[in-house]
Amino acid sequence: MSSASAGRHGRFAFRDALSLRRTADEFGAALPWSDSLEPLFQPLRLGDKLLAHRLVAHPMEGADAEADGEPGPLTFRRYERFAAGGFALIWFEAAAVVPEGRSNPHQLQITAATLTAFQRLTAATRRAAARAGHPEPVLILQLTHSGRFSKPRGAPAPIIARHDSVLDELRGVPSDRPVISDESLDRLRDAFIAAAGLAVRAGFDGVDIKACHGYLIGELLAAHDRGDSRYGGPLENRARFLIETAAAVRSLHPGLLLASRLGVFDALPGGFGVANGSSERFDPAEPLELAARLKAAGLALVNVTAGIPAWRAHFGRPFDRPAEGGAIPAEHPLQGVARLIGLAAALQTAQPGLAVVGTGFSWLRGFFPFAAAGAVAGGSAALIGLGRLAFAYPEAAADLLAGRPLNAKRVCTACSICSTLLRAGGPAGCAVRDADVYRLPREFKKHDRSPS
Ligand SMILES: Cc1cc2nc3c(=O)[nH]c(=O)nc-3n(C[C@H](O)[C@H](O)[C@H](O)COP(=O)(O)O)c2cc1C
Repeated sequence: MSSASAGRHGRFAFRDALSLRRTADEFGAALPWSDSLEPLFQPLRLGDKLLAHRLVAHPMEGADAEADGEPGPLTFRRYERFAAGGFALIWFEAAAVVPEGRSNPHQLQITAATLTAFQRLTAATRRAAARAGHPEPVLILQLTHSGRFSKPRGAPAPIIARHDSVLDELRGVPSDRPVISDESLDRLRDAFIAAAGLAVRAGFDGVDIKACHGYLIGELLAAHDRGDSRYGGPLENRARFLIETAAAVRSLHPGLLLASRLGVFDALPGGFGVANGSSERFDPAEPLELAARLKAAGLALVNVTAGIPAWRAHFGRPFDRPAEGGAIPAEHPLQGVARLIGLAAALQTAQPGLAVVGTGFSWLRGFFPFAAAGAVAGGSAALIGLGRLAFAYPEAAADLLAGRPLNAKRVCTACSICSTLLRAGGPAGCAVRDADVYRLPREFKKHDRSPS
């Protein structure tokens, strides 16, 4: 997209907090702020677990698992780095619960056959934290079915919960493709429940039933039109999969931390959390109702996110440059950052008993801790998630805890190369700050570098 059509988009160019905050104000982007970072260093009790502080490594898919879904050498490296970097909670990336729900042939998959490798992964992660002198981190595994984005053998093999004109066109899904049946969803619920049991045996402290980013369980939340399905129509039906799975896991594993990565705003016409008449306006009514139901079903944690990465990635990960083939949005990244923080705040304020993880802080680079501390101090989020910044700079938490300033040469540059690598099938990581391990393949070297 040319810079002329890029509207108010801009790139990060702030030398001091004042100019960042002034620009945020100009764009009407309300950023929480605290000059003291103390709020980030407060412990938080979640059930019988104690989080040493408020910094969380977000789930970040590396697409580096072995063919059977067991973690590969780069998977071990990623989690050992997050643990050595001092994160209090490590939210392990999407792991498929059934083979046909893998997003690519290198996505993690938790099965009886891969269980031992997952046991080694959690043990190695805890050892890495101990070696670095950090308190034991809390480990959560994200369970997923990739739905319309499934590519178990590398080619698209979509499984859809509903038809969506935008996403069907994007992925070439024919209008007469049948949606997944209620009976298949019942069986899939059992697969999620079984996977949660495996996660317990693998040594995780919690599981996340992933419901976001256009993947199957997130797509169900907007399945207004599924005929007379038990999983379509009113919110009670659309949320049935998530709530019933959560309740079943809760009753089988009372000590397990129960979580969901929740897409509260699809930013898609007819999507979840979207106001009638404008796909870019958030309607909190259903997300707040869902948060209340999730709390009642026994959820302890909700990690708030937004958007469908394959369609308009900036709603979920504000960037300076888009991923290969992506468009430059007509909004400034600060507006995206503020929107994400605001979405978390809406849920956290309505449900103070849930620990809400806020998203969208990586774009702020070395200023993220002040916005993060402001969010925690103001009750906008109990916990702060870092995705791309954790790829780029896994020791960020340890540096902050030790009172060291963040190293400006190590923060995320919001260049979206990690997203491009993921879309290209992996392995995905930070090709800027971890360039010995991750490189942009030659065919992407023309990746848009024009000024926005
Ligand atoms: C390469 C890459 C992989 C990701 N993998 C996952 C994932 O497995 N599960 C998930 O819920 N979100 C995933 N995300 C989204 C991140 O968790 C996070 O929400 C997003 O990057 C915005 O946070 P940030 O600004 O701190 O990066 C991924 C994002 C990227 C760029």
